[in-house]
Amino acid sequence: MRNRAAVIADRLGAWFEKAKRDLPWRKTKDPYAIWLSEVMLQQTRVATVLEYYPRFLERFPTVKALAEADTEEVLGAWSGLGYYRRARALQLGAREIVARYGGKVPEDAAELRTVPGIGPYTAGAIASIAFGKREPLVDGNVARVFARLFGLDFDVRSSRGQKELWKLAAELVPEKNPGRHNEALMELGATVCLPGEPKCAQCPLREDCVAAATGRQKELPVMAKKTAPPVVPMAALLASRGDELLLAQRGPTGLFAKMWEPPMVEASDEPQQALQASFGKLRKLRELGEVRHVLTHRELQVRVLTAEVDAALPEPRPPYVRLEWVSPDALSTRGISTLARKIMRLAP
Ligand code: ADE
Repeated sequence: MRNRAAVIADRLGAWFEKAKRDLPWRKTKDPYAIWLSEVMLQQTRVATVLEYYPRFLERFPTVKALAEADTEEVLGAWSGLGYYRRARALQLGAREIVARYGGKVPEDAAELRTVPGIGPYTAGAIASIAFGKREPLVDGNVARVFARLFGLDFDVRSSRGQKELWKLAAELVPEKNPGRHNEALMELGATVCLPGEPKCAQCPLREDCVAAATGRQKELPVMAKKTAPPVVPMAALLASRGDELLLAQRGPTGLFAKMWEPPMVEASDEPQQALQASFGKLRKLRELGEVRHVLTHRELQVRVLTAEVDAALPEPRPPYVRLEWVSPDALSTRGISTLARKIMRLAP
């Protein structure tokens, strides 16, 4: 393995030097900036991250700035990126790093893994890319590359699969330039060893690749089918007063914690009654359309209704803690989810 590993790492490194995309987080060694990029990239496409990353860094340029910021402001800057738990975890992590390490990001991967929100992947990325430590990492791209390169015929998402992948990653990561190596693996997965049709003609590892030699690119990686998430029917109230919109803020825990949205409730068959029951007297209720939104463990199917609402707003009910008329100017300072934005686009 060692010899083959060295050949593979050399080919990959040389390819990356020529083929790598010019991305802002590749121009820095600041562990905080690299940490932020990795957290954003975990569930979001590069093109989207490119819009958010510079703005977020400008607003929260250091671990200390992020730690001291108001959580709502952090959610505001994350607004539209989705998976808001990431933003909350990032801030919790920053607070821990200030409390325990005086704001200096630890260099050691094992130490990093003890910080809230930093798992094995992120710890490996920060330690190798920012600090040059010989630490492996495995994400979805790396799993696909390895499954094809080594002809792995087990489910890459199973716990045994993950264990094997991390073992391979650890054997393959070189002493020299481990960060570049890890980024190169991910880059290969993102630009060449693509899920559907890999571009094998461009691949620096095609001579080493079991799948290419045996024509199994489309069969690998093996992934157990994910079961479809349950569909949850909801009803949302999109009400306006002049150019102000009625928004509700969720409480500090649970899904979309602390974020603002048109108020909604679970409603299996009578959306009008469900909204009346939760948000008081509504007149001229009328349906505007439907929005579907896929979350990690469920799919929300939201019927969106508009209505006239009494000037005196009712007391908010869980999960909401506030109900307010919000002007368009004030929207940018609040955390507003992509789901809420989809709903708001149906405004008449
Ligand atoms: N995906 C997530 N992080 C990445 C990185 N640093 N380089 C390439 N692709 C990535």
